[in-house]
Amino acid sequence: MAQASIAIIGGTGFYRFLEDAEDVVVDTPYGPTSAPISIATVSGRQVAFVPRHGRNHDHLPSDVPYRANLWALREIGVRQVVAFNTVGSLQRDYRKGDFVLVDQFVDRTWGRPDTFFKGSQAAHISSAHPYCGRIRDLADKALADADATVHREGTVVVIQGPRFSTAAESRWFSSQGWHLVNMTQYPEVVLARELQLCYANLSYITDYDVAAAEIVGDEHAEIVSHENVLKAFNADSGRVLDIVRRLVEALPEAFECACQTALDGART
Ligand code: ADE
Repeated sequence: MAQASIAIIGGTGFYRFLEDAEDVVVDTPYGPTSAPISIATVSGRQVAFVPRHGRNHDHLPSDVPYRANLWALREIGVRQVVAFNTVGSLQRDYRKGDFVLVDQFVDRTWGRPDTFFKGSQAAHISSAHPYCGRIRDLADKALADADATVHREGTVVVIQGPRFSTAAESRWFSSQGWHLVNMTQYPEVVLARELQLCYANLSYITDYDVAAAEIVGDEHAEIVSHENVLKAFNADSGRVLDIVRRLVEALPEAFECACQTALDGART
């Protein structure tokens, strides 16, 4: 089976990405992946791509097979994962079109399988700092080189979806100081950590969620819709692809990282 050491997980708008890719179907104990995994050469490296929602937006945020996707990526040799998401802003200074290297999440989802462990084979990973800081530093440079506006830190509140937030929910999230809102950033990040993969998140702000729209003012106060999220992402997809290429070039073949030993001392 074709192998890859780097994976890109794409979100809304990211249904096809790699050209001349080989499609690989990986059997997992957790069922099928969101779509066949596409593997192609990018800047001389074997890179795997998974469209989180499937190739035709087949999976709701709560139905994405997060465990199967990550398990399959590890099966084909992936050690470094860069996950892209579209997000809504909750704060004035997180502007539409900016990128955010998310470093914290608040989980407001429910009922999503969020561990590979069960029974006597349990492990309790730390999620104090759930994203890979090493990849974040590399991504920071790749984004700056691509002239993107980037926030090195950001807390995302992950809602269950598929509906967007009410005004009251959005004002509450914003008043907590959380920066971003999204539906799919949990449980992917913690599942990657359980598999001891390096996993970083690159979020692209497509809209102002209700509270931020109120703060930013009438000019931007269009209520978020799936159509608008897609439109905003698609309008900038060329830049996103440039960033992906720069980041793939920056990721080392060989590295040492704390993510690789996440289970040390975690097992029961
Ligand atoms: N994804 C993109 N924008 C969003 C928003 N405002 N709320 C939840 N998920 C989103």
